[in-house]
Amino acid sequence: MATIIKPTVGNIQLAKEHLSNSNLVAVPTETVYGLAANALDVEAVLQIFKIKGRPLIDPLIVHVSSLEQAKLYCHMNPQAIALAQKYWPGPLTMVLPKKDNIPGVVTANLDSVAIRCPSNRVFRNLLESLPFPLAAPSANPFGYISPTKAIHVSESLGDKIDLILDDDDSEIGIESTIIDLRNGHQPAILRPGPLTQKAIEAEFNLKLTTPQQVVESKSAPSPGLLKSHYSPSKPLDIVKLTEIEAMITKDTLKESAFILNKRPVKLSQSVQNIFWLSESGEMEEIAKNLYALLRNVDKMDYQRIIVETIKAESVGIALMDRLTRASER
Ligand code: TXA
Ligand code: MG
Repeated sequence: MATIIKPTVGNIQLAKEHLSNSNLVAVPTETVYGLAANALDVEAVLQIFKIKGRPLIDPLIVHVSSLEQAKLYCHMNPQAIALAQKYWPGPLTMVLPKKDNIPGVVTANLDSVAIRCPSNRVFRNLLESLPFPLAAPSANPFGYISPTKAIHVSESLGDKIDLILDDDDSEIGIESTIIDLRNGHQPAILRPGPLTQKAIEAEFNLKLTTPQQVVESKSAPSPGLLKSHYSPSKPLDIVKLTEIEAMITKDTLKESAFILNKRPVKLSQSVQNIFWLSESGEMEEIAKNLYALLRNVDKMDYQRIIVETIKAESVGIALMDRLTRASER
């Protein structure tokens, strides 16, 4: 069973040794917890796929400690450098032409690599201490909800790994924004995330191709990306607040869990099957709590989960993307 370790100097050293010996370590990041291995070590990387039950056609993100380190593993262009300078370290992953030193197993034999420089201090300390980058997908079984706490990793992968480096709750709570920058002049958002399309477009005075347009053009660069789910084991539906109120009244047997954006103003004591993602509806708070609440509710005895529609603006776009995938069955 995995040991959850606090990020002391000694424990970061332990994690470092573990990774240097071809083993995996679950690590905290500002987005979600990751399952890390030496990205240059084929055997270690294969373990990631095996432990997650992830198909080999779904490539991994390579994590580096700096733009300088990123340049060792991919071919940067001026647009990518500008974005890195603005948003790294942080929740931005860029897809770029790969260099030969990244093994094919990491990128599902694509000639591009997804690269990210994270901001979480503990993860950065670890990356800075290592002479190699870390390949790390979210630390959940393939298709399940991403983890935002060490205990989430322990609950679903604890019997398959040795070490989980614990740095409390992930600060952001949803996965990084992924941008395809292979062609610097025509960047495309592949996965909406904490860093919004609007923010990037405003900062750089450019127009990003949307995930929808990528799907329609059938030019998705990774087969894994656009299909991936983030689903609880119970059926999930996204419903407008006005309709939820009627559903709550009808659900006299309390078979459904209702997840609202914010604390309801009036709440009768008897309604235990109502949950909320934030006190006041603030988007960042909703993002931070979403996966933990979905995991909790999924463990309870409800037959289905009803989540209130989230306004599709700023981070809400990414949240609705994840919920829509979670609702697919
Ligand atoms: O916030 C995050 O990005 C977290 C933390 C741990 O860094 N990682 C994460 O990794 O969400 P993962 O493996 O769960 O999702 C990465 C996605 C996959 O859907 C994969 O298909 C896509 O990135 N991807 C990886 N390499 C790619 C490539 N070369 N081209 C296109 N998509 C790629
Ligand atoms: Mg994932």
